[in-house]
Amino acid sequence: MLVSAEKMLKEAVAGKYAVGHFNINNLEWTKAILLTAQENNSPVILGVSEGAGKYMCGYKTVTAMVTAMLEELNITIPVALHLDHGSYEGAKKALEAGFSSIMFDGSHYNIEENIEKTKEIVALCHSKGVSVEAEVGAIGGEEDGVIGSGEIADPNECKKIADLGIDMLAAGIGNIHGKYPANWAGLSFETLAKIKELVGDMPIVLHGGTGIPEEMIKKAISLGVAKINVNTECQLAFADATRKYVEAGKDLEGKGFDPRKLLAPGTEGIKAIVKEKMEIFGSINKA
Ligand code: G3H
Ligand code: ZN
Repeated sequence: MLVSAEKMLKEAVAGKYAVGHFNINNLEWTKAILLTAQENNSPVILGVSEGAGKYMCGYKTVTAMVTAMLEELNITIPVALHLDHGSYEGAKKALEAGFSSIMFDGSHYNIEENIEKTKEIVALCHSKGVSVEAEVGAIGGEEDGVIGSGEIADPNECKKIADLGIDMLAAGIGNIHGKYPANWAGLSFETLAKIKELVGDMPIVLHGGTGIPEEMIKKAISLGVAKINVNTECQLAFADATRKYVEAGKDLEGKGFDPRKLLAPGTEGIKAIVKEKMEIFGSINKA
């Protein structure tokens, strides 16, 4: 059964670790992440961007696939199905389709409009026991068509949004979607500490988890980060393993072109990344 992310994130804040949010794109991605989480007894959040939702034939298809997989793979760890960077309309659609957690990304609105819309989404989601993530500031770079300015969050605005009763807060602290450029200035721990001071035990979400050095991740967790989003790193691992398989001509040997064989190395690549992240985040054996 899918669960809201509320309880798992409160436990993460109390236990000083973070739950991994891994984006899914299809059956292989979902299966790889769920099996790795189960094998490592870790809670997990499956992230679905609006683009990936469309790719997977709509949110209802995604909910049906994930809930069936939980049953048929005997997944017993806590799993939240979470809309990633949802628009106002997208949030309502995913809620309707049975997602157990929703991110409403109103960071591109002015703060008053972000507050109004977030408030409405919180009321709708909480009436169904669904958790809500809101965003202040902006994550730099681009993810699935969502382009962010990289604006560092204003801690006072974070407090205003946190006070709306959301369950987790995404704040722009210099984090970027996709690979980090060589001249990246790093995370603003000063901003994170100020936000933490104002929002108390509110779980803070770190987007752009790909490529952030381990020491920075650990410091961010010590300052209240309880959910870390990873997407690009799984895509790179999948592409790399698939390329090696094809370049070695393995798709041409025997029945190597069978999609169940062709997609297997990439799926293993995703599993390795998910396990590595769970170790760094400290979520192993926390289910
Ligand atoms: O919302 C998802 C992410 O923030 C993932 O970022 O692709 O840089 O890992 P990433
Ligand atoms: Zn993100």
